[in-house]
Amino acid sequence: MKNPYLPYPVRIEEIITETEDRNLKTFKLVFLDPGDEKKFAYVPGQFAELSIAGEGEIPIGIASSPTEKGHVTFTVNKVGRVTRHLHNMKIGDVMGLRGPLGNWYPWEEMEGRNVVIIGGGFAFTTLRSSIVYMLDPENRDKFKDITVVYGARNPGMLLYKEELAAWERRDDINMHITVDATDDPDWKYNTGFVPAITEQKITSAENAIAIVCGPPVMIRFTQPVLERLGFPPERIILSLEMRMKCGIGICGRCNIGDQYVCKDGPVFSLAQLKDMPSEY
Ligand SMILES: Cc1cc2nc3c(=O)[nH]c(=O)nc-3n(C[C@H](O)[C@H](O)[C@H](O)COP(=O)(O)OP(=O)(O)OC[C@H]3O[C@@H](n4cnc5c(N)ncnc54)[C@H](O)[C@@H]3O)c2cc1C
Ligand code: FES
Repeated sequence: MKNPYLPYPVRIEEIITETEDRNLKTFKLVFLDPGDEKKFAYVPGQFAELSIAGEGEIPIGIASSPTEKGHVTFTVNKVGRVTRHLHNMKIGDVMGLRGPLGNWYPWEEMEGRNVVIIGGGFAFTTLRSSIVYMLDPENRDKFKDITVVYGARNPGMLLYKEELAAWERRDDINMHITVDATDDPDWKYNTGFVPAITEQKITSAENAIAIVCGPPVMIRFTQPVLERLGFPPERIILSLEMRMKCGIGICGRCNIGDQYVCKDGPVFSLAQLKDMPSEY
């Protein structure tokens, strides 16, 4: 049996600086042993542990889609020890990748429905994975309307700018990009907080499921908007970012009541969260 703590060795193939403050970078990783890519079979919504020898291991959501072959990507905010080391690494450097870990968005339940994706700040990573997955020609017909509300503090803090622009041009996805504020005269999208734009742009909860990822304040104000629109708690899906260590339900670091966020989550419906102690 494979040791569940053993990471796959991966090489950094590309590094993209996403935001104007240079604190968010996307790392494109390739497996040193191409056979490991098959073993790392993931589903949008899952995360992995990225490890740097001598520095530590961190849980990060998978930003690529399983429909994108040959690499796995992660977008990482520089906040502390391990993320700072990762940001200093170079193309060609080797590191560890353990996973995939956790559960995923409820894809079977989402099929045949309208999908509303609501994201804020750098929590957009697994939502990017989901959008790329749904827009893949093999999958697009499985879903009805796809509507995205995505916000950042200002235009320079948006992730995946070229892809956002490409999705804006498509007619099989409704994009509502917004920023809190901007004095950029060329800004052509929305201005306003994500909950307000959600209230303006999402008009119906009929046959729809909403996935919401973002900072706690965004989630707190978006949740009542969705409930007013008629989304039942079972069809509001959230992803939690608790402190974690093992990532596989062994160390007990991430529990909320009797649920381990790393193993039973990180994806929970609002209905499930309402039944759990409010520690998240
Ligand atoms: C399931 C999951 C998915 C995640 N996905 C992403 C992602 O896609 N991109 C990304 O940049 N980050 C993501 N995170 C958060 C990321 O794991 C932490 O930012 C990282 O572990 C910090 O490591 P560090 O050694 O650099 O910081 P540390 O030196 O350990 O801490 C620096 C600061 O970050 C805070 N912090 C540390 N860990 C967490 C955590 N798990 N959640 C919230 N705050 C934390 C600390 O309180 C402290 O203020 C995710 C976390 C989880 C649990
Ligand atoms: S991180 Fe160890 S049990 Fe969840």
